[in-house]
Amino acid sequence: MATVSRRSEMAEATSSITIPVLLLGCGGVGRHLLHHIVACRDLHSKMGLVLRVVGVSDSRSLLLVDDVATTGFEDEFLTEIFRLKSSSGSSFSDLHDLGRCQLVKGAEVTTNIINVAGQLGKSTGLSVVDCTASPETVHILNKVIDFGCCIILANKKPLTCRIEDYDKLISNIRRIRFEATVGAGLPIIASITRVLGSGDPIYRIIGSLSDPRDDLSGMDVARKALILARLLGWRIDMDDIQVESLYPKELGPNSMSTEDFLRIGMLSLDRGIQERANAASSRNKVLRYVCVIKESRCQVGLQELPKDSPLGRLRGSDNVVEIYSRCYNKSPMVIQGAGAGNDTTAAGVLADIVDLQDLFH
Ligand SMILES: NC(=O)c1ccc[n+]([C@@H]2O[C@H](COP(=O)([O-])OP(=O)(O)OC[C@H]3O[C@@H](n4cnc5c(N)ncnc54)[C@H](OP(=O)(O)O)[C@@H]3O)[C@@H](O)[C@H]2O)c1
Ligand SMILES: *[C@@H]1O[C@H](CO)[C@@H](O)[C@H](O)[C@H]1NC(C)=O
Repeated sequence: MATVSRRSEMAEATSSITIPVLLLGCGGVGRHLLHHIVACRDLHSKMGLVLRVVGVSDSRSLLLVDDVATTGFEDEFLTEIFRLKSSSGSSFSDLHDLGRCQLVKGAEVTTNIINVAGQLGKSTGLSVVDCTASPETVHILNKVIDFGCCIILANKKPLTCRIEDYDKLISNIRRIRFEATVGAGLPIIASITRVLGSGDPIYRIIGSLSDPRDDLSGMDVARKALILARLLGWRIDMDDIQVESLYPKELGPNSMSTEDFLRIGMLSLDRGIQERANAASSRNKVLRYVCVIKESRCQVGLQELPKDSPLGRLRGSDNVVEIYSRCYNKSPMVIQGAGAGNDTTAAGVLADIVDLQDLFH
């Protein structure tokens, strides 16, 4: 017995994989990711995985361990970063003790990220995780991808930029994951990829992918719609998506303060929408703010849907996606659940990192 157990320990130790992680953006999602990484140490160890965080950036600076080839931040330090970034406006300069790591600022940030990617990408491998909300990171990502790094995105903007940048980003499809960009932790991208990969053509996707209270202009849903349409192979841009904003221009941020909008504007909108909802109801339908991808058209806006469809039955703020294909024709594949939240989104990002582990052998 003793021999057997010693062998299995050895087998565990030798098959363990270390995944170096570089995190861009440490807001709600990014800091929760650090928290999850620390909280999942035992679980990952049972899976033969070690996540070694070598750097974390925010809009102002980059924290790097002094020896990216061999070390990672201590869990205590990661927890301190989590706590620090929980208060708004905080920066890494406020950390009391930098210990054995360096703080890089300004133009040096990008240079250092690319250096680290160059050093680790081809040797140990590196997961570069984008939890910013910035359109700028696409340039960094498109450089680090040449070093063989894996890319994991919560940030939608790199995927909704010019098609040329998108093509480059997904040029090595095995090395990129972006599940959290649509529906947070829900396996929407993974499900679509599986259906497509089985040779089953998807001809329609319809989804409620936002809480409109956060996104009355519809732009955030439009980005998600573009990501899904491009996943289907459509070569379109943001301009090709018809977006129905929930407010007219007169009530937009350029013409009215947020306070007035919430006080007066919303009420006037509610009336109009109520009338449309009543009209839909008389036809046994309900109004839903959805994205529709079908027949080479990608639209975001209010639609009348059957009351007894998955989207029609939707209550509250869940995300719901109906996927129609040859196999899921009469009865669509439906994915539903909470589609936002720092904790849930960070969990989706972590699942993507773990999903790429096979590339680190
Ligand atoms: N929260 C959700 O429920 C959810 C769900 C799905 C997807 N997402 C997406 O996940 C991403 C992160 O969301 P969040 O809620 O965590 O946003 P957030 O709280 O605004 O955090 C953004 C972080 O990115 C940093 N940052 C901004 N520009 C940067 C740059 N050029 N380089 C490096 N870091 C930069 C910010 O720095 P400072 O700390 O210095 O400001 C901040 O730490 C977004 O793209 C969002 O759309 C969020
Ligand atoms: C998510 O994190 C952001 C930024 O730290 C914070 O403002 C927001 O309140 C958090 N959201 C939730 C639901 O905890």
